[in-house]
Amino acid sequence: IDELIADGVGGKRVFVRADLNVPLDGATITDDGRIRAVQPTIAKLAQNGAKVIVASHLGRPKGAPDPAFSLAPAAARLSELLGRDVAFATDTVGDRARDTVAALGDGEVAVLENLRFNPGETSKDDAERGAFADQLAQLADLYVGDGFGAVHRKHASVYDLPARLPHAAGDLIATEVAVLKKLTEDVKRPYAVVLGGAKVSDKLGVIDHLLERADRILIGGGMAYTFLAAQGHEVGISLLQKDQIPAVQEYLKRAAAKGVEFVLPVDVLVSADFPDLKTKAPANPDTVAADAIPADKEGLDIGPRTRELYASKLADAATIFWNGPMGVFEHPDYAGGTKAVAQGLLDSSAFTVVGGGDSAAAVRQLGFDENAFGHISTGGGASLEYLEGKTLPGLAALED
Ligand code: 3PG
Repeated sequence: IDELIADGVGGKRVFVRADLNVPLDGATITDDGRIRAVQPTIAKLAQNGAKVIVASHLGRPKGAPDPAFSLAPAAARLSELLGRDVAFATDTVGDRARDTVAALGDGEVAVLENLRFNPGETSKDDAERGAFADQLAQLADLYVGDGFGAVHRKHASVYDLPARLPHAAGDLIATEVAVLKKLTEDVKRPYAVVLGGAKVSDKLGVIDHLLERADRILIGGGMAYTFLAAQGHEVGISLLQKDQIPAVQEYLKRAAAKGVEFVLPVDVLVSADFPDLKTKAPANPDTVAADAIPADKEGLDIGPRTRELYASKLADAATIFWNGPMGVFEHPDYAGGTKAVAQGLLDSSAFTVVGGGDSAAAVRQLGFDENAFGHISTGGGASLEYLEGKTLPGLAALED
């Protein structure tokens, strides 16, 4: 972006593809981390006299306008963070967007409505995506890619649009890539990885990568129950991906052969009912050994012995990557495991990277100081796919 600015952005219309896909409760943003992360790039362009057009997706609307997925709250928050007015166009490539952009003065900022209100944004058909990118290209003179959280998506605004305009990577993407590179090239050992979240199927690629690099892999969250089942334990009514058991068994075998330590829960908190996340009514879970989950109960967090075990496995690490909560952290009775892992990262002297929207939001919602961590990535799927070594469309498009 600095080269682009050196070439002169004053008076130019600069399209910034951001990831403003923030969690919302109605129209209230519950975690604004992604907006704060891209704000410096927007401010820098505006300070240099650009007419800044910010665009993003939010959620997964069905290719048509849907007020539940409006970017208006994100535009309002961006305005607060920038300390200046931000115009909001209630469409993306229609009259409102064109008029809003035409009315921008030098150094002013506008946000377009959700890109995914247009079927062309996410279309698998190259021509349909290309046609939408052509329309977007008419709005701008230059393109800055800074939506790291969406770079793994081959979408019109991420992949096709930069081919149509002079382009550069923004500061957020540059920082994210520099940090994640440290985890793929000469990583400092011991390298410990904590993986959580619901589904093991989302993590298979990254586990594959980690078996070649990590020293220990700690497993929590919903995916832990497929690991426990793969070891022959009963998991009651816990989340279970039966079809993934053979893959997990294969990984456990490969890990043993390579000397990579897989660390699984030794105890878990269980209940017959999923907790009420709205009322947060007490859930009164039981603590049971991980190999003694009752048939009518589900595991919802890692237990106290596991928390201690995981903290000890993180204490002497030199590098830690963490993706995915350890339990249903949104409920106070099941937040202890995720808190313990966050604390474990802070108590170690390791270089720590927290990857993923959920874990990043968890860290902030549980009251931790985000600046105490080495890096909190704005990308969930994007950071995992980067670590897998995949070519990410949104980065490839910026590379030439
Ligand atoms: C994310 O939240 O990981 C990014 O914003 C991408 O969203 P998507 O998974 O809906 O493409």
